[in-house]
Formats: sequence, structure tokens, C-alpha cells
Amino acid sequence: MCSVCITNASLVDGEQVLAENLPNRNALLEQHVDAYPQEKEPLQDTATDIQRTRRQPTGKDFNPIGHVALEIHDPNQDAALGLPPNTVWVHQLYISSALRGGGYGVATMAKAEAIAAQEPMKGKWAALDTLARQVRTKAGDAGPIDVKTGSIMPIISKEEWYARQGYETYKQGPGYSYQTQDGHSIQLHVSYMKKKIEGGV
Ligand SMILES: CC(C)(COP(=O)(O)OP(=O)(O)OC[C@H]1O[C@@H](n2cnc3c(N)ncnc32)[C@H](O)[C@@H]1OP(=O)(O)O)[C@@H](O)C(=O)NCCC(=O)NCCS
Repeated sequence: MCSVCITNASLVDGEQVLAENLPNRNALLEQHVDAYPQEKEPLQDTATDIQRTRRQPTGKDFNPIGHVALEIHDPNQDAALGLPPNTVWVHQLYISSALRGGGYGVATMAKAEAIAAQEPMKGKWAALDTLARQVRTKAGDAGPIDVKTGSIMPIISKEEWYARQGYETYKQGPGYSYQTQDGHSIQLHVSYMKKKIEGGV
């Protein structure tokens, strides 16, 4: 997606990478690779487009420590949800569990919003959906099973975390489908959140 660095994070092809000039960069990467040895080998920037706009891949190697995706949805679907035009969706935010709590999630969101506000997306709003804050009470403490992957999911709502990044909840509704470990199907509520990003961050 972009390889411009911010304080402690940058994005390449949607993968979150540590900034080149971060003083403890190698130690942090080691911390990540110790936890995820299969991620020792770097990836390569081969992306040829952003939202159907051509770009020249840099070919540079990079070691991701997380991920985030930006997407433009069908404007009619956005309107049906009550979203304004020029909305860019933020999906699949993930930071290596070995590095959480160090500010990389906050930095990644700020970077993603800045990219969303620029060409070619030129977003004025960022939107996302996330498990609703009341979900834990509904689901109970036993982790339900993700019906798509068959894996047991920790049910942790990040709604309050996003609210601290300036996102407001404008709607709630039925969301992801899971199965309880005793075989019942449950649908967990999601909160739809948005934030004005016009002018970048
Ligand atoms: C949500 C997630 C991306 C957050 O990533 P993170 O890197 O741990 O987040 P940050 O470190 O930026 O923020 C966590 C806390 O550290 C604090 N923090 C920020 N900068 C910091 C710094 N330099 N040093 C220490 N702590 C810092 C933040 O204020 C924040 O505190 P808060 O929770 O009270 O708001 C991460 O927990 C994750 O990948 N979770 C699993 C996937 C997921 O749930 N994704 C969201 C799906 S909708």
C-alpha cells in the first residue's frame, strides 16, 4: 500500500511493518519471530495496484508484524447503512500478539486513515465493524467456534479501543455467526463505527 514511515509503523501492501528508523527495530522483530518462527523469511512488495490504480511495486523485502486492509464498498450498501459518500472501510486489523500494547495498533490506524484520505481513495470517512462491547456478556466465557474456520475464537470486543481512536458507533446489528462448543448456533452483534478523516491525519 505505502512504504512511507511514521513514528513507529508503516504499511507495505496492507502489511504492517516497523519503521526503518525505529531504534529497537531488530529486537522487536526478533521478539515477533521468536513467537512466530514461520514468519522469519521476509515478504516482497509486489503489489501492482491500489483500488485498481496502477502502482510500481518496489520489490523491497519486508517483515510484517501485523496487517490492515482498506476497502471501498458498494456506495449503495454504504448508503443503506447510513454512511456518507467517500467512505473507506478498515478491515482485518491485526498486530502480532508478541508486540501488542506498544502503540503499533494506534499508529497503524493513524497511518491507514492518512492513506485512505489520499489519492486514489480520497476518503472523507473511515468505517469499520467490530464485535459489540456487550458481546462478551451475551456469548458467555466459553469461546465459540468460528463457523467458517472451525477454530475456537476468543471473544474480545475492541469497540472501546476504536472509540479511543475517535470512532463513533452509529449502528448495531446482527453480525458474525459462531457455534457454541455444545453445538448451538449464535450470531454475535457487531457495532458499526465511523470517523471523519477528511484532510488526513
Ligand atoms: C486491536 C489490536 C490491533 C491493538 O493493537 P496494539 O498494538 O496492541 O494496540 P496499541 O498498543 O496501539 O494500543 C493498546 C494500548 O497501548 C497503549 N499505547 C499506545 N502507545 C503506546 C506506547 N508507545 N507504549 C505503550 N503503550 C502504548 C494505547 O493507549 C492502548 O491503550 P488502551 O487500550 O487503553 O487504549 C491488537 O490487540 C490485535 O491485533 N488484536 C487481535 C485482532 C483484533 O482484535 N483486531 C480488531 C478486530 S475488529
